[in-house]
Order: sequence, then structure tokens, then C-alpha cells
Amino acid sequence: MTDILEVTDLHVAVEGTEILKGVDLTLQQGEVHALMGPNGSGKSTMSYAIAGHPHYEVTSGDILWNGESILGLDADERAKLGIFLAFQYPVAIPGVSFANFLRAAVSSVRGYKERARAEAGGGNKVIGSELMPMREFRQELLAKMDRFDVDRTFARRYLNDGFSGGEKKRGEVLQMAMLEPKIAILDESDSGLDIDALRIVSEGINKLVADGMGALLITHYQRILNYVKPDKVSVFYQGRIVKTGGPEIAHMLDERGYAWVEEELAQALA
Ligand SMILES: Nc1ncnc2c1ncn2[C@@H]1O[C@H](COP(=O)(O)OP(=O)(O)O)[C@@H](O)[C@H]1O
Ligand SMILES: [Mg+2]
Repeated sequence: MTDILEVTDLHVAVEGTEILKGVDLTLQQGEVHALMGPNGSGKSTMSYAIAGHPHYEVTSGDILWNGESILGLDADERAKLGIFLAFQYPVAIPGVSFANFLRAAVSSVRGYKERARAEAGGGNKVIGSELMPMREFRQELLAKMDRFDVDRTFARRYLNDGFSGGEKKRGEVLQMAMLEPKIAILDESDSGLDIDALRIVSEGINKLVADGMGALLITHYQRILNYVKPDKVSVFYQGRIVKTGGPEIAHMLDERGYAWVEEELAQALA
């Protein structure tokens, strides 16, 4: 079965100010949808709203997963459905190793906690048993680090602590490889990457998409789209999607900037 995420006429407010003004978007597994738009147009706001960040208030419209509203679900329930958000600015957590972070995240998304608690008769019992077994986890982690070209030393390093831009993004690819989301939102995963890092991150995304992940690729630049081929490209502008088409749209934006979109909009409204 192919999972589908649908955003319909979504309005979102942050601290009383309406930021999203009627977003419509569909993304399914195995598909790459690129989203481009100027700074401050609301791209990250939409990402957070989809992921279920409590700060972002949906005032009207809906977010549907296989046709059913997920507005009532909190962020970790949405993650369990298979929705993943790679933050524009990943946080560093000194003291928590990448491996421990991933083991906790994978255990949560795959339901180890619930199973352990059910077996313990509903109480909050042994903490260790709420995690995916260490041997199994390590085997999978090592295999995926190799497959996705992530250095094995990553496992022991503290989460994003002192990571370069490229290393953070490789770390995100590894997170996705482990969490196996159905739909991933990548918020400017290409910003600040040199060409080698961009290529490695793109290859990782391509492998995940080939495995069936759907990707919403938020980007400022056409550059990453040379490596990750989008099925659709949409332009985000002032809180909504104003144009959707093929890769040619990304090239137009690179050449002519957003003034082109503004002119088209002005003409359409005239
Ligand atoms: N947490 C927040 N508190 C107040 N304003 C916010 C918050 N998040 C976003 N905004 C505002 O919403 C608008 C859209 O921001 P954002 O979604 O980050 O745009 P983009 O990702 O397209 O650059 C901006 O005007 C920004 O100032
Ligand atoms: Mg943003």
C-alpha cells in the first residue's frame, strides 16, 4: 500500500499571526516534490505544522494521512505513522551519542516501548527492555552506515556536537535510513553543503526514495535538483503554493528569481 500525505487549504497561525494562507499539497511514497520559495514565505512553518509542532496552530484546513485527518495526533504519533522532519537547524545534544539517540528514536517509532509496557502489565517497569535489543540495533546501524556512506565513528560522537554542515546532513540521511519514514520533509538539507557533501546527501536521498520514501525537498537552489530529480516543483510564496510544474520551474527561478513569480501573480490578479 502506498501512503499519501495531503494538505488541504491549510491555514496556520503562529502567536496569533496567520503565516500559512491556504496551502494545498499532495505527496506520496516514492515521489519527490521540490518546494522552493523566498525566505519568510512559510516553508518551515508548513513543515512544523505537518510534523505536529504544538507552537503552530492550524486555524483551518486539514492535514490528511491516507484520507484521515491527523490534526488530533501529536508529533510522536505522526512520527509513528511514518512522517519525518529533518530540521533546517538541527540541534546539538552534547552527552548523547548518535547511536543512543538513534536507538531511542527507532525503539519509539517501532513501538518497542508500548510492547514492553504491555508485557510488564501496563506499568512503567524496566527501562532497558523498552529499547530495541542492542545486538540487533548495532547490526542494522552498521549495515546502514556502510550503505549510506556514513563513517562508523559517527555512532560514538555526540549528536550534532561540533558537526560540520555536511556531517549534520549525513546524520539526517542516517536517521532516515534507520527510522524508515514513509514521507520525509527535508527543510533546506542542501544549504551550506559543498559539492561533495551535496552529492553524498543526494545519493542517500535517492536510495531512500528508491526504497519507497516520499520526499518533500525544501530548497532555495536548483543545484540539488541536478542530483535528486523531482517529480514536481512547487513555488511557495506569501504563505501558499502559487505555482506547480516540472523541473523547468526550478531553472526559471534560478535564472530570473522570484520577481518572475511576482509578475505572473500580479498579471493573474489584474
Ligand atoms: N516561532 C515563530 N514565532 C514568530 N514568528 C514566526 C515563527 N516561525 C515563523 N515565524 C514567521 O513566519 C514567517 C514564515 O517563516 P518561515 O516559515 O520560517 O519561512 P521560510 O521557511 O519560508 O523562510 C516569517 O515571517 C517568520 O518571521
Ligand atoms: Mg525555513
